[in-house]
Amino acid sequence: MTLRNDISDIVLSEEKIISLAKSLGEKITEDYKDKNPLLVGLLKGSIMFMGDLIKYIDTHVEIDFMDVSSYSGTKSSGDVKIIKDLNQSVEDRHILFVEDIIDTGQTLNAIIDLIEYRKAASVEIVTLLDKPANRKVDVDVKYVGTEIPDGFVVGYGLDFDEKYRNLPYIGLLKPEIYQ
Ligand code: XMP
Ligand code: MG
Repeated sequence: MTLRNDISDIVLSEEKIISLAKSLGEKITEDYKDKNPLLVGLLKGSIMFMGDLIKYIDTHVEIDFMDVSSYSGTKSSGDVKIIKDLNQSVEDRHILFVEDIIDTGQTLNAIIDLIEYRKAASVEIVTLLDKPANRKVDVDVKYVGTEIPDGFVVGYGLDFDEKYRNLPYIGLLKPEIYQ
């Protein structure tokens, strides 16, 4: 049995992911020239996307990570808990959140409020995937790789119960695996 057996469809291939990272990186390069933005990845789902995205940003950036939890199993809850905070101050910094997927929007909504309260100069979001069908709160997402329909996806950092993060592509998990 390979991991591929648990995937019904490949939603984004490795090649497609790289081409999306490249075009988002180019836009971010334009918008953040000489602003020395702090890219904040949300652990753990964003690790692969952070790694690929920054290769295509051709201006100085710094990176950091936060770990927040709002998710257990396959359903999102409004509860956001900070497990690991940033290592530095965001005051007067341009903050760009790097997300794997935006689903209900609740996680980022809560964290953006916190970062604004800490007096960031600006706060924007880049996400590889957007599932607008599931949105519960409004979030303004400046950079979106691609929209995907509702359905539980794994791979490229995204997990189901901590598994499948190591797949190099994004795939739809067969419902019999999580039901
Ligand atoms: P919200 O709902 O607050 O949550 O926008 C975003 C976070 O929820 C996780 N998430 C998923 N994880 N497959 C996953 O592996 C999915 O289809 C999925 N949808 C949401 C993810 O951690 C994201 O950062
Ligand atoms: Mg996440």
